[in-house]
Order: sequence, then C-alpha cells, then structure tokens
Amino acid sequence: MNTLALYPGSFDPITFGHLDILERAANLFERVVVTVAVNKEKSGVFTGDERVALINECLEGKEWAKSIEVDQFTGLLVNHAKKLKAKTLVRGVRQISDFEYEFRMALTNKRLAPEVDTIFLMPDEEYTFISASLVKEIAYWGSDLSSFVPENVAVALREKYAK
Ligand code: PNS
Repeated sequence: MNTLALYPGSFDPITFGHLDILERAANLFERVVVTVAVNKEKSGVFTGDERVALINECLEGKEWAKSIEVDQFTGLLVNHAKKLKAKTLVRGVRQISDFEYEFRMALTNKRLAPEVDTIFLMPDEEYTFISASLVKEIAYWGSDLSSFVPENVAVALREKYAK
C-alpha cells in the first residue's frame, strides 16, 4: 500500500480552493507532497521559490498540514512522481468544465507511467469558482482578495502588482 500522494499544480498563487483540496488529501494519505510545477518557458507572477514559500506560510501551524511537504519540479510530472516513489496524483475538479482537461492529463500521465494513478477531489462548494488566474486579475485591479486567498498571499500579490 502506497501512502504518499503528490498534489501537483502551478499554484501561481495558492488559493483557498487549493488549500481545501490539500486538507482533504492530507486526511486521505499518510504523506502528501505539494509539488509546484516550474516551467522555464512559462514564467508566472511568482517564481517557484516564492510559490513554495507562500504555500509553506499558509500551512504553518495547521494541525492537518503536519504530514505535508512542499517542493517544486521542472519537466514531466510523472518523472517527479517516480523519483519520489509516489503512486498517486491528486487533482482538484471544481466543475465539469475542468474535467476534459483533467481527464486528458490523467490519461497522458497514465500512458507515460501506468503505475501512477490520478484521483480527483472536489472542493467545498464555496470554492468551486476560485481560480489562480481570476485571483491575479482581481489583484491587478487592486480589489479585495480576502475571500479568495490567505492574507500572506494577498500581501504578496499586492506587492507584485504595485511594482
Ligand atoms: O495548476 P495547473 O496549472 O492546472 O497544473 C497543471 C500541471 C502543472 C499539473 C501540469 O501542467 C503538469 O503536470 N505539468 C508538467 C509537465 C507534464 O508532466 N506534462 C504532461 C502531463 S499532460
């Protein structure tokens, strides 16, 4: 039995929706590694290191997050999963519209690494519309972020967009 799950994503930046999925994953697996995909060609608002630091700050002091680690990877996700000996990938599905992309990605990963399964978790209903891209748009226009991201992330976004 494998008790390690990887929760991969861009996390540019992490939102309340991601944290909801992460808590659910932490309740299902003995260990969860949140892994930030860093794509050299596709630069985000935050660097990989910044995204990792923001996630760690969000998890600080949370009882349910004690078995969670945060790292980053470049290249193919399945190679990172193999390196960590993880057999399960966790992805959040908010709406049916997410599913087509998620299904394609899961099938591709399965073709590349048949031993690695993807499981899908649903966030609480109140988070089903939150996305990192909408959060960045709200931050860009300087509006209130408090119902979308934790305070440390809101502060970091405000600093980025003030520049
Ligand atoms: O948060 P996102 O942007 O929806 O996460 C997508 C992510 C980073 C998990 C996905 O793009 C990914 O795994 N990228 C790494 C490259 C890879 O393995 N591609 C093949 C799978 S389709």
